[in-house]
Amino acid sequence: MTITASPLSRRPDDAVVGTPLPHESAALHVTGRALYTDDLVGRTSGVLHAHPVQAPHAHATITSVDVAAAHDVPGVVRVLTAADVPGINDAGVKHDEPLFPSEVMYHGHAICWVLGESLEAARLGAAAVEVTYAPLPALLTVEEAIAAQSFQGARPTLARGDSPAGLAHAARVFEGVTSFAGQEHFYLETHCSLALVDENGQVFVQSSTQHPSETQEIVAHVLGVPNHAVTVQCLRMGGGFGGKEMQPHGLAAVAALGATLTGRPVRVRLTRAQDITMTGKRHGFHATWTAGFDADGRFTALEATLTSDGGWSLDLSEPVLSRALCHIDNAYWIPDITVHGRIARTHKTSQTAFRGFGGPQGMLVIEDVIGRCAPALGIDPAELRRRNFYADGQATPYGQPVRHPGRMVAAWEQVIASSSMEARRAEIDDWNATQPHRKRGIAITPVKFGISFNLTAFNQGGALVHVYKDGSVLISHGGTEMGQGLHTKMLQVAATALGVPLERVRLAPTRTDKVPNTSATAASASADLNGGAVKNACEQILARLTPIRELVPDASWEELVAAAYRGRVQLWAAGFYRTEGLNWDAATMTGHPFKYFAYGAAVTEVEVDGFTGAYTTRRVDIVHDVGDSLSPLVDVGQIEGGFVQGAGWLTLEDLRWDESDGPSRGRLATQAASTYKLPSLSELPEQFNVALLAGAHEDGVVYGSKAVGEPPLMLALSVREALRDACAAFGPAGHSVELASPATPEAVYWALTAARGAS
Ligand code: MTE
Ligand code: MOS
Repeated sequence: MTITASPLSRRPDDAVVGTPLPHESAALHVTGRALYTDDLVGRTSGVLHAHPVQAPHAHATITSVDVAAAHDVPGVVRVLTAADVPGINDAGVKHDEPLFPSEVMYHGHAICWVLGESLEAARLGAAAVEVTYAPLPALLTVEEAIAAQSFQGARPTLARGDSPAGLAHAARVFEGVTSFAGQEHFYLETHCSLALVDENGQVFVQSSTQHPSETQEIVAHVLGVPNHAVTVQCLRMGGGFGGKEMQPHGLAAVAALGATLTGRPVRVRLTRAQDITMTGKRHGFHATWTAGFDADGRFTALEATLTSDGGWSLDLSEPVLSRALCHIDNAYWIPDITVHGRIARTHKTSQTAFRGFGGPQGMLVIEDVIGRCAPALGIDPAELRRRNFYADGQATPYGQPVRHPGRMVAAWEQVIASSSMEARRAEIDDWNATQPHRKRGIAITPVKFGISFNLTAFNQGGALVHVYKDGSVLISHGGTEMGQGLHTKMLQVAATALGVPLERVRLAPTRTDKVPNTSATAASASADLNGGAVKNACEQILARLTPIRELVPDASWEELVAAAYRGRVQLWAAGFYRTEGLNWDAATMTGHPFKYFAYGAAVTEVEVDGFTGAYTTRRVDIVHDVGDSLSPLVDVGQIEGGFVQGAGWLTLEDLRWDESDGPSRGRLATQAASTYKLPSLSELPEQFNVALLAGAHEDGVVYGSKAVGEPPLMLALSVREALRDACAAFGPAGHSVELASPATPEAVYWALTAARGAS
């Protein structure tokens, strides 16, 4: 692959940012030498292992817990229950997530935890704990929750203009329901925490967490101690994808509680089955909508109600819903719009952040609307999409002007050209005409994704940069590494800012006692926020070095640093960054929540078998906007990975809960990779071309770059639309195809069967 700097790049040619470097830990990853939290257990002596007692009901009152028999199991050291909590018995920030519950809220809910000398002893101890339950009725689906009016949290409305009037003057009005499933994160590393307490009662928790500062806060409030008594460190994660933004806190608190009560290190490490049955997933949604179009196929209005499946507690459901509402427009100008949002409370795991954080859910709704309405309007879906794009001067429904919509158009036109989409459209039509049992489909979809946390306060980052006397540099920053390449980018930023070779810079693990009060490594914003902070710290140091440089103009970096030390110049600095120009009013759902938008477009071609619904992805072409890339190899990896993960959500991954009325109601039936189909090599596109949009320098962000972690996931909507196009080819022209999500082969089979039957 060749990657060239964009022609409008405003960086010096020798800048370390923009160089296509491998991930800083690539060699450690592929040789198995990279340390994850659980690898530390073998390097720690006297570790106790924790095992949960999981409830076998989706909803029940706990009538008694008898732990006596557990103590008879050899190797069991202690059972942790609600009575042991010195502080607040809650694992969340909303105070609706009791750590040791008195009511079972989902199948697999952990009631209490057993500590043992070995994991096996703890497991046998957990099996010996006697719990009695009084089962209660359980709500499992969003539809059941809507019927029972079971909702939780805020019910926001995003509105602009007069949507009833917009629908009234529309040439065509369509109504529909779009419901779609959630997704399991399936990070390779399951949740893990290891807690130790020192002689002063200082608690040290190593945790696989995207949000060390919040893990610290929750551990502190469960223990009833101030935040300064708890330090959280995250070496790296084997994937987080949002699933470790809020879910690690309670597990870290169990480990810390065990460690304070026993004086020994305590390890909480979930098995895959525990992880998948106990921790939250992407929210599935149910949406009802009414869309109006004028005679040219332009949106006049949209009314919609989005109901997310929040599971048993709020967790991050409110901000996820806000982002869904703020992305229902995707790339399209909809003059009059009213969107209501609400969160269903169901007896399932508490659904949480997942790459895109509600954005994919909002965008799926509008792409489904367009995909279903286009045939009825008699307009090619690609043309319908293009015709509705935002133009300069237009604003989103929440009132933020859409900056650089021309870049979205540029990505769109570039990918149409590079994929030869128009020629292939004609070839596919010819091929389909000769094939009664197999059909191909092709589709293009755009992405416009807002970067920054909706909540303005979270948009800050911190860093600590040390220059040692020998000129070597150590950086710490508030972000965590989960494979996304943040640390690689931060090393490149520091080397560029200080003007030193990359080899002079080293990066220390993320710790709350180095950089405090950090935001979650989330919202794709971590390179913007922490990169801004690292750069700020470097610039402070450089400013102090400037007078010394005047004294020794020809000195090397090492000589300059040595001279500065002798001159008693401070050679380290704490850096800080906050994103300027943001505001957000959650009550009115208006403001300027995003620093900028990341744009992209993807063209996907699929082939579907008419007998089985099985399909292959023949080719994918992507043009994506990352501004001036900080690290092009990392960015291309994020685009490829995000796209494939999105395709998994939309076409393969199928979470099934037992919805029967029997005793296993609410049990997650898909608990392992054997029953939960993840994308693998065989589902990768046969041809996969990724290009970075050129000339996309973004002012006001670190070295002109843009965030990349989440936006490409939504490019996978093109796979869903290509499958719809292929299904349509089995029936008469002009027929609208409804496709379930996930569009598994079975769902595709039913969609093409319906198309065949249409007249
Ligand atoms: N890439 C890898 N390899 N592993 C991950 O867990 N998480 C994604 C994305 N890319 C993830 C990933 C999610 S959900 C987010 S929000 C961003 O990375 C977070 O990192 P960033 O802010 O540095 O982009
Ligand atoms: Mo990502 S869902 O913001 O962790």
